[in-house]
Amino acid sequence: MTRDLVLSILKTRKGYVSGELISKELGLTRAAVNLAVKALRKDGYVILSSTKLGYMLKSAPDRLTSGELLTVLGPERMRTVSVFDTVHSTNRVLSELAYDDPTDGQIVIADAQTGGRGRFGRSFYSPDGCGIYLSCLLRPETPPASSIPVTAWTAVALARAVETVCGVQPGIKWVNDLFLGGKKFAGILTEMSIEGESGRIRQIIIGIGINVNNPPDSFPDELKDTATSLFAETGTAYSRAELACAVIRELDLLRLAWPDGQDEYLREYRARSITTGRTVLLLDGSGRTASAESIGDDFSLCIRYPDGSTDHLTSGEISIRADRYT
Ligand code: BTN
Repeated sequence: MTRDLVLSILKTRKGYVSGELISKELGLTRAAVNLAVKALRKDGYVILSSTKLGYMLKSAPDRLTSGELLTVLGPERMRTVSVFDTVHSTNRVLSELAYDDPTDGQIVIADAQTGGRGRFGRSFYSPDGCGIYLSCLLRPETPPASSIPVTAWTAVALARAVETVCGVQPGIKWVNDLFLGGKKFAGILTEMSIEGESGRIRQIIIGIGINVNNPPDSFPDELKDTATSLFAETGTAYSRAELACAVIRELDLLRLAWPDGQDEYLREYRARSITTGRTVLLLDGSGRTASAESIGDDFSLCIRYPDGSTDHLTSGEISIRADRYT
């Protein structure tokens, strides 16, 4: 889209850029460049113009658009990144797109979701203008059972992206929730589908939801004690586009590292774990509590019950006891 290309030039060049140079570089008429600038201004971009010098981008709104992502990721990567305003669920949209085009690494991002899905059939609160809702398609060659740790790897990738852009160190609550200040600010929902005939993986869709700039008091009653946002924890508003690009880059690195790079992801997962060393309540209806001792080599949670017996949890949900974590 012309608008995105013009934005990309204004973002990468510091200072004024002449209209002539923009039209030459993009192969557009001057009138088309003027129209693109007008459209960008309408979207909240403050663009100064001078008859002698051309255009200069003064400030940009926090928008999740393909134009914003294009500047950082480049046209080649953007070929398989689809950006939407509002969708039902990015996991669902990606699954539909993948039916015709199952390109590994394909991404869907939205500014808002009306039916965002969470784990265990729950919904994921996805208001517009403040979060990142992103899904990524993976088509690993590894067998289904040994692909399960991809979710834990994603938690590490996501924590790295947040640390790079926001300068904070998120903790990982087993299996894949990201925490700051004792509350959850990001979650991951992985959906795997298997070919009926061969038993091989057809696709894995990794869905990531991040509360980025949500105001502290904006969460609904049922979430307000357990959910937070990066803004609520740090007092800083972040560029969602920049963070989304960092997440995509980390997911690209994850795909490259899979499955041989396990040691590095496991080491970092263990270091970031906020679950080990605590008492946990098993949310399997049994009401049992246990001590979370360590993370196993397969990212399982190694627990010890009060009677001394041990177990390795490979899936399921736990709640951390005796503090604000849930
Ligand atoms: C959880 O915390 O239970 C997982 C939440 C996952 C939410 C993300 S938002 C993008 C993707 N699309 C969805 O419908 N869900 C995931």
